[in-house]
Amino acid sequence: MKYIEFGPNKDKVSVIGAGCMRIARMNQTQAEAFVKSSLEYGINFFDHADIYGGGESERVFGRLFAEQPSLRDSLFLQSKCAIHDGMYDFSGDYILKSVDGILERLNTDHIDSLLLHRPDALMEPEEVGEAFDQLKASGKVRSFGVSNENRFQMELLQSGLSESIAANQLQMSIVHCPTIDAGINVNMTNEAATMRDGGTLEYCRLKKIAVQCWSPLQMGFFGGVFLDSPDYPELNELLEQYAAEYETSKDAIAYAWLLRIPAKMQVITGTTKPERLKEAARATEIALTKKQWYELYKAAGKQLP
Ligand SMILES: NC(=O)c1ccc[n+]([C@@H]2O[C@H](COP(=O)([O-])OP(=O)(O)OC[C@H]3O[C@@H](n4cnc5c(N)ncnc54)[C@H](OP(=O)(O)O)[C@@H]3O)[C@@H](O)[C@H]2O)c1
Repeated sequence: MKYIEFGPNKDKVSVIGAGCMRIARMNQTQAEAFVKSSLEYGINFFDHADIYGGGESERVFGRLFAEQPSLRDSLFLQSKCAIHDGMYDFSGDYILKSVDGILERLNTDHIDSLLLHRPDALMEPEEVGEAFDQLKASGKVRSFGVSNENRFQMELLQSGLSESIAANQLQMSIVHCPTIDAGINVNMTNEAATMRDGGTLEYCRLKKIAVQCWSPLQMGFFGGVFLDSPDYPELNELLEQYAAEYETSKDAIAYAWLLRIPAKMQVITGTTKPERLKEAARATEIALTKKQWYELYKAAGKQLP
């Protein structure tokens, strides 16, 4: 496993994060296997949100900590808030109330990272800053970040914060990486040249902000995995070839492609299966060559100008 220094506390977190969006229906035995096998493979980072399973995903962890309190301190726990009632909400009071709910469901007195889930068009940076300061002072949250934000939204928010943004969680995979497409197609007139995020990846690199890739295997917006999909024959053929070369799985090569990007990359997996988490951990031992990285990019249907 590889680790990065995360946020102002310089926590040592795994570059593979176990995403918890799909674990709401796990029973206690399955949840224990999910967490303990992750730890065994070196994965210490767990990504929650208050809305996953309507709060049930967090409750699964909460029940586990009730039974085994010492487990809590082995994990770096991240959760998110700001989506409710058909809107996005960075109001100070709402953020404070959300964190109390998160802590209650997770059955813990603090989380290690809080992300604002989706940008609120009506956000007031100073109001968010005050809420974050209160959460920090009370010890309820140790670091702060965002999700699905572009560079200028991050800069605007940062202007009201006393602490640096630690992470931005973005949808990213070999087949869904518009930020990379735009970087490769600067000043061209094709669709791929459309800069949708104002250079967010480059901004995160400059500011040493962790880039957390969500849905690393999905086609489109939760369109199913591209692995073995008839929509991506060339990509699957090449993934298979490299998987054989590196004696690993296609999943691991797909994750290694993201981890090859020279930012503070993290891959937030969505699998519920311990054996697949093991493959994800394997990905961190693979350093794709530049040539392989570009070949995979092209096999996913992308073109170089
Ligand atoms: N910030 C945001 O806005 C946002 C949005 C969405 C998600 N997220 C985070 O990102 C995490 C990952 O998202 P995701 O779940 O969409 O990620 P994903 O890893 O792309 O998809 C996971 C799904 O793919 C399946 N899968 C995994 N490996 C497979 C394989 N080799 N063959 C076939 N199916 C396979 C999994 O099934 P099995 O369980 O059977 O393996 C699961 O149903 C979430 O848990 C959440 O923490 C964040």
